Amino acid sequence: MKKESVDFLVVGGGIAGYQAVLSLLPHGSVLLVSRGPLSSGSSYYAQGGLALPWGFGAEDCERHVQDTLRAGAGLCDEASVRILVGDGEKVWKGLLSIDVPFDQAPDGSFLTTREAAHSVPRIVHAGGDRTGFLILSALARKVSESSSFRFLSNYQICRIRKNRQGMVTGAIFLGETGHDLLEISAGATILSTGGGSSLFLRSTNPRLQRGDGVAVAARAGCEIERMAYYQFHPTVLDIPGQAPFLLTEAMRGEGARVINGQGRRFLFDYHPDGELAPRDVVSRALWLESKKHPEEGIFLSLTHFPKDRVAQRFPQVYRHCLELGLDLQTTPAPIRPAAHFQMGGIRTDMNGRTTLPGLFAIGEVASTRVHGANRLASNSLLEALVMGSRIVDAIDGGRRSSEEDHGESDESDQVFLPSVDIEEGWTRLRQILWDSAGIVRTLPLVKKGLLEICAMIDSGRPAPIEGARFALGNGLLVAKLILEDIQTAPVAGANYVVDEMPGLT
Ligand code: SIN
Repeated sequence: MKKESVDFLVVGGGIAGYQAVLSLLPHGSVLLVSRGPLSSGSSYYAQGGLALPWGFGAEDCERHVQDTLRAGAGLCDEASVRILVGDGEKVWKGLLSIDVPFDQAPDGSFLTTREAAHSVPRIVHAGGDRTGFLILSALARKVSESSSFRFLSNYQICRIRKNRQGMVTGAIFLGETGHDLLEISAGATILSTGGGSSLFLRSTNPRLQRGDGVAVAARAGCEIERMAYYQFHPTVLDIPGQAPFLLTEAMRGEGARVINGQGRRFLFDYHPDGELAPRDVVSRALWLESKKHPEEGIFLSLTHFPKDRVAQRFPQVYRHCLELGLDLQTTPAPIRPAAHFQMGGIRTDMNGRTTLPGLFAIGEVASTRVHGANRLASNSLLEALVMGSRIVDAIDGGRRSSEEDHGESDESDQVFLPSVDIEEGWTRLRQILWDSAGIVRTLPLVKKGLLEICAMIDSGRPAPIEGARFALGNGLLVAKLILEDIQTAPVAGANYVVDEMPGLT
């Protein structure tokens, strides 16, 4: 096995990871290990923007806190939300200092938009609907100027490395061949591997967002929590044969309408705020409406927008739809919800500390409880940036030299790998999660799904790590954690469980 050593190891190359690198570079050498290019993570695709307590006064912050708490379905940790919002101005100034090209009006003022459940426009954006890509690119550009930064791509984390005292001392990775192992020892290990929404049949996330960070942390004995709390985005393009594609909530924030097959804005039947109701409410309403009128379809309509407005304001989404033969300026888009964001995950405090010393987690892989059971739109980029910055306060004092002998424990390199057919296993897993851990859940389906997932897991045996089978093992473990959590707390939060639902057993 190849071996390397570094002061700080960051696993995952999204906005949280790169922001952490930027914060840590003044304190030592940083190695960022990623599964693939920038486009392999969710940050790259973030369209809507970055939510900030715009104005940054005490009242602006309080409003942002209250909107976050309201959207979170009563399950946010208020003290954490106050920290999140309170750090907004600092991260905004940081982004301006690295020249992120946020959209501006002709007079030079920054443009802000609104999304659902925000009481005021407070979301800044870049390139219209390319905010994630432009923030990520600026961060990546900035950190690559430092000689203390190194980047390794095409490596998948497979095990957390611990010493005999239980201290995390780095991680072990699988290379591209799926067999070659690389061991990296580090003074601090930071997971920023993103969520697991791609484990669901329909997802807005890139394919590799399959919850690997949660799986390796769980195997290492780290506390995982709130895995039942998944967010489903309501307005996701639904064209047969095409991958789901997000139609940003900023469209609804700026007046787009959700209509049924009769052209009626039915969302007001479900919530007085209609299209601007919290995301979980809108997704559930779409789900229920499609059960009532399965043959009719549901659409997002922007055809009433002024001429050329859609193409100018949402250039990336407009172009993508046009390539699929859909002109959003003239034709309503067929939509159906898809899994979008993991609110639970590796339990951390507001400096990214997990329950294992030496291991930290930030961004979507972490559960800071700031989002409750339903994240307020565009608070995800805020969380990624705030936690990527705050990590430095936890780590700086505890940094150990990478030269130290970390005395690794004698854990086995064998892991329990499922023995089912890999392709069939993935198909089954995604369908099970979609059916049993989707927008509306019933306990009989949750139990049935869990039994099937456990049977696939139990079919396995200890074996040397091997890429494809290992990834499926991770997926099955995360699915199990999700279903077990639903079973434990079936009525909590935004993804509610019903006793029975016509058509569901
Ligand atoms: C969107 O643009 O609708 C997604 C933003 C988010 O997930 O908060």
